[in-house]
Amino acid sequence: MKPQELVKDIYDVGIIDWTMEDFHGFYTPHGVTYNSYLIMADKICLVDAVKGVYAGEFLATIRRVVDPAKIDYIIINHVEPDHSGAMPALAEACPNAKFMISKQGKAEAIEHYGDIFDFEVVKSGDTLSLGNKTLQFIPVPMLHWPDSMVTYLAEDQILFSNDSFGQHYCSSKRFDDQVDTSILYYEVKKYFANILLPYAKLIGKAVNTVNGLDLKLIAPGHGCIWRSHIKELLAKYDEWGRGVKSDKLIIVYDTMWGGTEAMARAVTRGASSAGGTVKLFRYNNINKSDIVAELLTAGGILFGSPTQNSGMMPNMGGLFTYLKGLKPIGKKAAAFGTYGWSGGAQKDMEEFIVKAGMELEPGYNCKWRPRPAEIAAAEQFGYDFAKKIK
Ligand code: FEO
Repeated sequence: MKPQELVKDIYDVGIIDWTMEDFHGFYTPHGVTYNSYLIMADKICLVDAVKGVYAGEFLATIRRVVDPAKIDYIIINHVEPDHSGAMPALAEACPNAKFMISKQGKAEAIEHYGDIFDFEVVKSGDTLSLGNKTLQFIPVPMLHWPDSMVTYLAEDQILFSNDSFGQHYCSSKRFDDQVDTSILYYEVKKYFANILLPYAKLIGKAVNTVNGLDLKLIAPGHGCIWRSHIKELLAKYDEWGRGVKSDKLIIVYDTMWGGTEAMARAVTRGASSAGGTVKLFRYNNINKSDIVAELLTAGGILFGSPTQNSGMMPNMGGLFTYLKGLKPIGKKAAAFGTYGWSGGAQKDMEEFIVKAGMELEPGYNCKWRPRPAEIAAAEQFGYDFAKKIK
C-alpha cells in the first residue's frame, strides 16, 4: 500500500515508533515518530530522514511511491540521529541525490557518518527550485542544535519545521484535528519544556519569522502535522518563549522514612489554601518530563528531601542535574526537608536551585519527624511561598 498523501504529491514516509517510551531520558508514553516527507515535484525531494535502526522500513516506504535512485534532493534540516540516522542508507540508495544542509549540519554529519555525501550547503534566504515547487531555507540555530533549520514550501504553504512544533505522540491519524487535542497540546508543551526550554529566548524571533509566512500546514519532525490549530500553536510557542507564568506551584519531593513526605503534604495543604493551583509529585525519575512540563508555566517550585549521607537523596540530585541543563529561569524556588543528626540536603538543594537559574527563596526544615507544631509551620511555609507567586 502507498503511504499517506498529505496533500497532492506530498507523502508521509516517516516512521512511527509506537512502543518507544524513553527518548534519551524523556518519558514518551505515547511513543515517538520520526517524520519524513517525500515531495513528488518535477524534481523529487525528500525532507529529513529517520532514526538509523529504521532505515530499511523507511526505504521500503519510499519505494512504494518512487525508486529512491530517482530522488534529486534530500533536505537535512537537523543532524541529531533521530532525524539523520538513515543518512548513510540514503546515500547508498539515492546515488543521484544532493544533500541540502546548513554549514554546521555538514560538519556534524561528517563527524557522525563520514564524508560520504554529495552535500550542497545552504544558508538563510537560499531557495531550491524543484521545477513546479520552490523550497526556502530558514536557519533556526539552537532550535534544537546549532545546525537546525526549517524549510518552507511556498506553493503548498507548508513549513517543514523539524524539532520545532514537534510532539512525541503516535497516531495512525496524522493531523492535529484527527487526534485528542488535550493530549496533543500537553505533549507539545512537554516537548517544548524538555527539549527547547534552554533556548526559549530564541523562540520569539522564530515565531515572528513563521508568522510572516502563509501557512496551510506545519509539518514537524515529530508527531502530528498541524493544519487546524496553527494560530493557537504559534501563540503558545510565543507565550512559552516569553516565559509567561501562572500562579501554579509545583512541589516535588523524595522521602526515606516519611518525615519529608509528611512535610510535603503539609506544605501542599498550606499552599493550596492560598488559592492557586498546586501539584505535588513524589519524584521517581520517570516523571521528570512531566514535572518539567508542569513547571514551564508555573510561577514556582518547592523541592523536598531528607538528608541522606550529608546530602540530598540521589533521586533529587538527578532531577536537579536535569533542571540545571534546562535552566528554568525566572521561577521562584525553595527547599524543605528533614534531617537527623546533621543536615546537608537543604544546602545541596539550595546550591542547585541557584545553579539552575531559579530565584532562591528561604526554605524550611526540621529535625527527625515533624511534630504538630512543625507540621503547622510547614503549612505556613507553603502558604507564604504560594502567596509570593500569585
Ligand atoms: Fe528530534 Fe533534536 O532531534
